[in-house]
Amino acid sequence: MKVRKAVIPVAGLGTRFLPATKAIPKEMLTIVDRPTIQYIVEEVVASGIEQIIFVTSEGKSAIENHFDYNFQLDSVLREKKKVVLGEELNMISNLIDIVSVRQKKPLGLGHAIWTARHVVGDEPFMVLLGDDLVLSKQPCARQMLNLFDDVGESIIAVQRVAPEQTHQYGIVEGEKNGRERTYKVTRLVEKPAPGTTDSDMAIIGRYILMPEIFDLLSRTTPGHGGEIQLTDALLALSKKREMFAYEFEGTRYDAGDKLGYLKAIIAYGLRHTELGEPFKEYLKETLADL
Ligand code: UTP
Repeated sequence: MKVRKAVIPVAGLGTRFLPATKAIPKEMLTIVDRPTIQYIVEEVVASGIEQIIFVTSEGKSAIENHFDYNFQLDSVLREKKKVVLGEELNMISNLIDIVSVRQKKPLGLGHAIWTARHVVGDEPFMVLLGDDLVLSKQPCARQMLNLFDDVGESIIAVQRVAPEQTHQYGIVEGEKNGRERTYKVTRLVEKPAPGTTDSDMAIIGRYILMPEIFDLLSRTTPGHGGEIQLTDALLALSKKREMFAYEFEGTRYDAGDKLGYLKAIIAYGLRHTELGEPFKEYLKETLADL
């Protein structure tokens, strides 16, 4: 069983990032020199996935356009002898086969994934949230695919959070498995009330899922926040088959949150090949003046 497809839901409203996201999708906000979503697409490509399925909604066409071939721009860049830049833009549109499906109403992440069921079909697939970045030596998606080659079951990427933050996340309870950084899932709960879980393993936006999830999603009733929660369907799936939590190597940034976005800009800016050094100098001077 090979994981060939990645679903990237980008149909959310982005209310945490208003007013910036009134007319621009949060996934198109720039981190250094490219939109957030491009980092995620590059991670998917570097991990060997063959097809991306965007789950989009009204107002998100900028994302589809960004990965499309722009004939007019290509011609203008050629005329201006900016061939290298033109090739870089074409490279983005040639990175991978991309299709999109439309979520008609923002009924939740679970519903967004269910919307992609016909394109995914009966095979395991990956899910990456369009605003969740992971900075790591080996792409996070690749780390998860390596584990999948071994276990052949659903995998949820997790990170440790402070106990006072657990109520902001989906939380996984699990037992240590023989494999490194891996836990067998025993319970999942969406945004648990303080004091109701001992676990500090928070779900972040990377999953490998078995196709049975679609049937379970179609039977999931609206949960927390009136939305069809992926976590509820994951809990049902974990009762039917084994499921693993994987503590990935790397740092995750929630680029759909204002502070998370600023942190991502600093992290990616400092690692940029040309801008990294001058940016670091600038930050040092700025901090010294505070
Ligand atoms: P978020 O929790 O970040 O919600 O969704 P949101 O609506 O995008 O943003 P806020 O909270 O209002 O600021 C997590 C992921 O699920 C997708 C989002 O696009 C994001 O990638 N999503 C969420 C959908 O595709 N459809 C939905 O109905 C809800």
